[in-house]
Amino acid sequence: MNDLIDLLKNVPLFQDLSKEELESICPLLQEIRWKRGNVIFLEGDTGDELFIIKKGIVKIYRYNDKKEIILAIFGPGDFFGEMAIIQPSLNRSAAAETLENCLIYSLKRAVFYDFMMKHPHICIKLLEVTAQRLRRANDQIYNLTFLDVRTRILRSIIYLANQHGVNRNGGVWIDIRITHQQLADMAGTSRESATKVLQTLSEEGLIVVKKKRIFLNDYELLKGLAGLND
Ligand code: CMP
Repeated sequence: MNDLIDLLKNVPLFQDLSKEELESICPLLQEIRWKRGNVIFLEGDTGDELFIIKKGIVKIYRYNDKKEIILAIFGPGDFFGEMAIIQPSLNRSAAAETLENCLIYSLKRAVFYDFMMKHPHICIKLLEVTAQRLRRANDQIYNLTFLDVRTRILRSIIYLANQHGVNRNGGVWIDIRITHQQLADMAGTSRESATKVLQTLSEEGLIVVKKKRIFLNDYELLKGLAGLND
């Protein structure tokens, strides 16, 4: 139970709830273990559950028969699946698949609604996260429309560093395994182009790639090269 409360405290939606309120959610959460590569749901599926990640990484993506675009990569403390539950007449807006073995909790629509009614500040938190995700989606549209492949890859690397980075040896280590294909799917390019850019960045001494993990030697410098300096 304490483990679960620690997790919920780190989920933006529930951050302002008291310990007693968090304790009252715990029995309503269902624990599910997923193996790496499992599809949690597909775009267009019906859905009446919100998911909260305790352990592991989940990619959110859209696809057609030839290509895929990754919209987000979520990790511990992130939630997803809220759109279909707050718009009951609509289905899943994207697919979700595990990139690692995952431990995920699910919460049914009725329970979540009940909680929102009793604690309206959860709605404000939900709006905050939705606005943040909309900003990122706008950035993705901008990047795909206006930026070259190298800058798009650089921005995808910075996104991953912001979401999953840990400071190490003066640089930032992206603490998830990411394939060239996945990076390409984030940046809207081919696997070959992503590989070429990663090779160039490595040769320039900006990154080190080891066993599908990326190390940024100088985060600020890369941010500048990606045109993301504040
Ligand atoms: P839902 O539509 O229920 O199922 C797919 C989920 O992916 C969606 O809820 C959101 O939680 C998440 N999602 C969809 N689009 C985006 C996006 N652009 N950025 C981040 N998350 C998204």
